[in-house]
Amino acid sequence: MSHSYLEFDPEKIERHEIYRLLTGAVVPRPIGWASTINSKGVTNLAPFSFFTVVCVAPPMISLTIARNPDGTEKHTLKNAKEMQEFCFNVVTTDIWKEMVDSANGIPEEDSEFDTTGLTAIPSVKIKSPRVKEAPIHFECKLHQVIELGPNKHPLCIGEVVHFHVDPECMNGSYIDVKKLDPVGRLNGFYYSTLGEIWERQFEDGQKR
Ligand SMILES: Cc1cc2nc3c(=O)[nH]c(=O)nc-3n(C[C@H](O)[C@H](O)[C@H](O)COP(=O)(O)O)c2cc1C
Repeated sequence: MSHSYLEFDPEKIERHEIYRLLTGAVVPRPIGWASTINSKGVTNLAPFSFFTVVCVAPPMISLTIARNPDGTEKHTLKNAKEMQEFCFNVVTTDIWKEMVDSANGIPEEDSEFDTTGLTAIPSVKIKSPRVKEAPIHFECKLHQVIELGPNKHPLCIGEVVHFHVDPECMNGSYIDVKKLDPVGRLNGFYYSTLGEIWERQFEDGQKR
């Protein structure tokens, strides 16, 4: 297939136009649902789609936690820095609406667990709670916060110190992604499920 192209210089377009290019091209994005707690014991829950796995040994994941428009830090980042930890929870289709609702900014002294009706359960190695309704949790110790560029955009890297996986999502030693049924973020306000899944068939019968 051949293409013709529109050209964009990020130094000459508006920030929202850059955002639209990035979030339209990098799709679907998995959603890292971060659950945290602060030193006063207030829990917090928020979704992040600028999320990925960054290292296997030791296991590490990253969340890009943008600053609020006034330059202040989001509650998730404040809590992660204060307690040096956070929990990551996989968002599945059955809890998709609660995930969207958990992104409504609420005062720091209130908890999204209360506003969404989700259940906070204790972790094993960290103080941050896990989301009972999510089938997979990664307990993370904060490894590093890298502040990117002149706006000091925080890239938050966590080392996974404990994994919890509902056996209903497993097939032998593999996570069965169909059973898991995760939700992806697209652009605008669109979300997706996994859709069709395939593998290439080779004549020698090998899988690659
Ligand atoms: C699906 C989804 C994905 C999001 N991804 C991000 C993200 O990657 N980075 C970010 O800073 N905010 C993201 N947000 C917005 C935050 O979840 C939102 O600002 C939230 O209120 C932050 O909460 P907190 O202040 O309690 O940490 C996302 C929202 C939704 C609904």
